[in-house]
Amino acid sequence: MTFPPGFLWGASTAAHQIEGGNVNSDWWQREWGHLAGAPVEEPSGDAADSYHRYREDMDLLARAGLTSYRFSIEWARIQPERGYVSRAAIEHYRRMVAAARERGLEPMVTLHHFTNPVWFTRDGGWHRDAAVDEFRRYVEAALPVLEDVRLVCTVNEPNMVSVLADPDVGFPSVGLPPGVPAVTDRLIAAHRGAVELVRGAGGQAGWTVATQAYQPEPGAEDVAAEYGASREDVFLDAASGDDWVGVQAYTRTRIGTAGPLPIPDDAERTLTGWEYYPAAVGDGIRNAWRRAGVPVYVTENGIATADDERRIAYTTGALQAVEACLAEGVDVRGYLHWSALDNYEWGSYRPTFGLIAWDRETFARAPKPSLAWLGSVARRNALP
Ligand code: BGC
Repeated sequence: MTFPPGFLWGASTAAHQIEGGNVNSDWWQREWGHLAGAPVEEPSGDAADSYHRYREDMDLLARAGLTSYRFSIEWARIQPERGYVSRAAIEHYRRMVAAARERGLEPMVTLHHFTNPVWFTRDGGWHRDAAVDEFRRYVEAALPVLEDVRLVCTVNEPNMVSVLADPDVGFPSVGLPPGVPAVTDRLIAAHRGAVELVRGAGGQAGWTVATQAYQPEPGAEDVAAEYGASREDVFLDAASGDDWVGVQAYTRTRIGTAGPLPIPDDAERTLTGWEYYPAAVGDGIRNAWRRAGVPVYVTENGIATADDERRIAYTTGALQAVEACLAEGVDVRGYLHWSALDNYEWGSYRPTFGLIAWDRETFARAPKPSLAWLGSVARRNALP
């Protein structure tokens, strides 16, 4: 089958994971042991230096045939100190939007992708009611970046943000902890405020949820429902009045009567330790559609692997699941692969998710065959 006309084909990134030198963010501080939190394996450092090389990155995506690029703007650069707005950072991100448009890439801009300014976290972060208003003021300051942007994501994976708000929890590998309920409430309030501002500026607002494909074993349906309620459903329900919702899917979580089940020994695992399970995106799309009832974009989906053939196989399986959802009548409007580049996987550079590799010394880009492959799918608007 062919995908619907105008279906977006893209790749996604996040500022902290590729820009480099994000020194005023709480993640940078965490990497250097200056903030409480689970220790990380290695710091992000210069990352892929995409803060300076974004044009080159966009060139590669556009030339391959992709039609969209999702990236995040960095709160810690726009407001490196409380009350201060960096006009230079705003201009930088405006140039990025223009660069995407010049290359025929529909920009999808994320306002918050896990990282906060260090002042925000030092003052208590999302554990204070004031956080909602502080986020709103940041979004107001960032509105000039959004002038020529249609698709705006307010908060990336609020369910993960709620989990990460607990300083003793690192980036979880398998099975998502429940999150902090008061933080979840504040994130929903912050999202609502941002949706209003984005719409006021003429954009279409949504947020992107980490869907976990909770699959109950026979008899464990209630456990799975309870499990998914605070970790996924509450965030999808909150998207019901939005312009769209983003699904971010990587693997599944099988649930038994006593909770999540371990990954079977004989299952293939990816470099993050997750089960290789391309169909997960179908579970995520269906749950998002059922609960939010608004157009769905797959805003992240991919695999950490050193074997690019497995990336193509995984993505083929995932796109077949997207096709099945479309055939069922779900309004899926785009597929944005995670990730455009190998990147800083929240503590380590080891898990490689990218369609493009790069040299750690010279930053020279090396597109992988999977980029050309995804580009050809995009040009054809159909799987081979
Ligand atoms: C996040 C990304 C992350 C990816 C793979 C998502 O949770 O939005 O920042 O790199 O999954 O773990």
